Amino acid sequence: MARAQFWGGRFEKGPAEEMWEFSRGGKADRFLYPYEIEATRAHVKALAKAGLLSGEEAQKILAGLEKISKLYSSPDYEEEDVHSFVQEALREVVGSLADKVHTARSRNDLVAGDSILMLRDWYGGVYDALSRLQDALVEKAKDLKGKIIPSYTHLQGAQVVYFSHYLLSYAFAIERIKELCTFFRSGLSSPFTACAGAGTSLPVSAEDIAGELGLSRIYENSMDAIANRDYFLDALYVMGRVGLILSRMAEDWIMYSSNEFGFLRIPEEFSTGSSIMPHKRNPDSMELMRARSVELMLGLTRLLTILKALPMTYNRDMQEDKEVFFSLSALLFQMLGVCTSVIKGLELVEERLSALLENDYLYATDIMEVLIKMGLDSRRAHMAVGRLVRRAEKEGIRLRDLPMDLVRKELLVDIEEGVYRSLFDPVRSVESKTSYNGTAWGNVERQIRLLEGRR
Ligand code: ARG
Repeated sequence: MARAQFWGGRFEKGPAEEMWEFSRGGKADRFLYPYEIEATRAHVKALAKAGLLSGEEAQKILAGLEKISKLYSSPDYEEEDVHSFVQEALREVVGSLADKVHTARSRNDLVAGDSILMLRDWYGGVYDALSRLQDALVEKAKDLKGKIIPSYTHLQGAQVVYFSHYLLSYAFAIERIKELCTFFRSGLSSPFTACAGAGTSLPVSAEDIAGELGLSRIYENSMDAIANRDYFLDALYVMGRVGLILSRMAEDWIMYSSNEFGFLRIPEEFSTGSSIMPHKRNPDSMELMRARSVELMLGLTRLLTILKALPMTYNRDMQEDKEVFFSLSALLFQMLGVCTSVIKGLELVEERLSALLENDYLYATDIMEVLIKMGLDSRRAHMAVGRLVRRAEKEGIRLRDLPMDLVRKELLVDIEEGVYRSLFDPVRSVESKTSYNGTAWGNVERQIRLLEGRR
């Protein structure tokens, strides 16, 4: 195996062993292998069209590429990088004809092109994995129709909502990430013919290569084409956004399944026990999710920092884009899979929920809204309910049990007893939230239809 087949000519000595191990892109860029073949195929066709290869030569090389793609499905090579590997493998199959392939291209545009082709598929995979997670949320929302939970702001009990409404809030957040995937994918452009950064004098057509690869856009500027790594940054941003959502779900479910909240159960298969405390059923899957989301979020910062202040155009630093990306990509899919399975197995603890929904404060805002409907302005209504809460606290009586003369005195309105006492009903409360995006069941159903229609 020649160590430096792309650039040996001007060197007297080969690279030191240490240098070789230190610099090889072999670990991460083997994932680019199928795209290296795809890009090379398109390139060879364009070379033939430009007259830089004869028709016969091109046919031989294309057949050779076909052969090596069957020979090595996922190569474990010794060469400097995936480009050198394919070149070498091709030489074994078509002989010195292989030396004509690297005409009018550089590894600079090639590695960019391979990465872009890889990301085009990657977005499809992420989109599908996100859809599966979304489907699990929607299914669970349908299964647990009508179940009501407290919602929280500042982690203080706020108002009651349908559990389905809560789950779908995450489904819509995921929908926005899917939209990002579509957007970033559509921006992927062909860098070919940029070569080492200045373009080429050889008559190869950028349109032919892009057309063959099915890329609808071509970089306008050859320096930009090889100097930027925006496509990886975009993908890492997507991963960070997924990490953020997964971390919030994880935190919610860790809390909701604790003794103190206690209204949610994480499936047993995704929990573990304690070595000393026999009663424990710990939400380890979600704790790891919470911790590993950090990795997903840091990828963007890592690559931004690697790229920061690099001089134009290509620098070897940029090889690290793949080290950052591929390890995180594997983690991303693993985390999405685990989270999807956990969602499928989530259960509500009804007895505990009924107890929690007895908390009168969850209905304080409902009292206020009734006062506004009775003509009080919002400030006075807010103050009045605030006074009532303070009074109830002082008397040590639940809001719903306060005597009516006291209620009327604090609220400043002649509210009917039946109206007042009915306000502490969770179903009444959720069904009253009929504003467009409110938690009333009609709206939840609309959300489900929307999400099911979008797949
Ligand atoms: N392994 C390199 C990378 O991933 C390929 C490009 C090398 N280009 C160069 N001029 N050394 O960035």
